[in-house]
Amino acid sequence: MEVRQIPWGGEEYEKMLELRTELLTPPGWPRRKIDPTPEKDLYFFMAYDDAGEAVGTLILMPESETQVHVRQVATQPRVRGQGYGHALMAAAEAFAREKGFKRMVLDSRQGARHFYTVCGFTVCGEDFGRPDLRLTPMDKFIG
Ligand SMILES: CC(C)(COP(=O)(O)OP(=O)(O)OC[C@H]1O[C@@H](n2cnc3c(N)ncnc32)[C@H](O)[C@@H]1OP(=O)(O)O)[C@@H](O)C(=O)NCCC(=O)NCCS
Repeated sequence: MEVRQIPWGGEEYEKMLELRTELLTPPGWPRRKIDPTPEKDLYFFMAYDDAGEAVGTLILMPESETQVHVRQVATQPRVRGQGYGHALMAAAEAFAREKGFKRMVLDSRQGARHFYTVCGFTVCGEDFGRPDLRLTPMDKFIG
């Protein structure tokens, strides 16, 4: 298992776009191609299995000097429960702390709430979103 920060653009980023579409399009929703342009200044993390296959994704989006939004957290179904999600979050948190961010925020899908709770996040707002994609705001102070 390995987690690497990858640059915007390029081969690994293209692979990440594919993985995100595959893993994060809600059931029944059309698969849309992600526009890379607005993502240029974000931070990208990918998890790889021992064969070097990309199996997980996570993005950090700075929202202020102190706050960063965690987005697009997903792992391949075949590796779930093996620690890839936690490894991605640990790498992202270490990076965010190093950069001086004090608070990580995210909007959790209902199936991921337990995972984020185990990662140290707590609910910080009211649920929102569509009936078929309810999201729960969560945060974690890291400063
Ligand atoms: C949420 C998600 C990213 C978690 O990823 P994951 O790779 O399964 O995460 P982990 O394996 O690190 O942790 C999951 C569970 O497996 C357990 N686990 C970790 N290593 C393990 C191992 N070697 N053997 C067995 N279980 C293990 C963890 O303890 C954790 O259980 P817990 O939450 O009860 O503690 C993944 O389920 C996913 O992609 N879901 C669909 C997309 C999604 O909803 N993303 C969130 C958008 S907001």
